[in-house]
Amino acid sequence: MINLILFGPPGSGKGTQGKFIQERYKLCTISMGDILRNEIALGTDLGITAKSYMDKGNLVPDEVVVGIIEHTMEQKKDCSGFLFDGFPRTVAQAKALDTMMHHHGIQVSALLELDVPEEELVKRLLLRKEIEGRSDDNIDTINNRLTVYRTQTAPIADYYRKQGLHHLIQGTGKVEEITERLYNAIDKL
Ligand code: AP5
Ligand code: MG
Repeated sequence: MINLILFGPPGSGKGTQGKFIQERYKLCTISMGDILRNEIALGTDLGITAKSYMDKGNLVPDEVVVGIIEHTMEQKKDCSGFLFDGFPRTVAQAKALDTMMHHHGIQVSALLELDVPEEELVKRLLLRKEIEGRSDDNIDTINNRLTVYRTQTAPIADYYRKQGLHHLIQGTGKVEEITERLYNAIDKL
């Protein structure tokens, strides 16, 4: 059983690449951003709370997202492996994930970090705004998401590096080239 974390800044291609990885390795994807956007669309209390953070590009509180992961993993008990997209995003979330995995008798196999320069990230997200119209893809929110990533999320890489689970993948070039790099790294696990 493999359990992967797809990691990287906003616009690095986690959602794009996650679809291919999920398909090839028959994994259940848990995308925190997608779960939260779905709650917003449904107008639930959780969605209303989440929107107030997401629209500014800030992180939703740890206890909220950890609760969602707990519930989702419980619902997906029969999955033969997980692909996490957008979780964990703080060291506290990474530690909570370890505890939850332990509870299920499983562990993180690898964290795959997509490495993309910031000017390319901004270009991609502004282009995505034209296509998908995601409300957090405006320049102010993008800049804040990048700052939040640098200060609160990037330190996670070290947490996994110390456990020998961190893999840096070049995230620029054609989508299919990046997919190939990810497959190569996963196949070696
Ligand atoms: P989330 O939805 O996770 O957003 P994000 O991390 O900002 O990442 P994106 O979804 O914007 O980018 P991506 O890496 O998936 O790239 P994509 O494949 O779309 O989180 C949103 C918010 O939710 C957070 O800000 C926070 O408020 C909250 N949240 C979520 N998780 C949380 C957590 N754990 N704790 C607390 N709060 C949380 O690609 C981007 C664009 O580039 C696309 O248009 C794509 O077509 C294009 N593209 C992809 N690959 C290439 C390529 N190789 N060349 C050219 N273009 C490309
Ligand atoms: Mg995404």
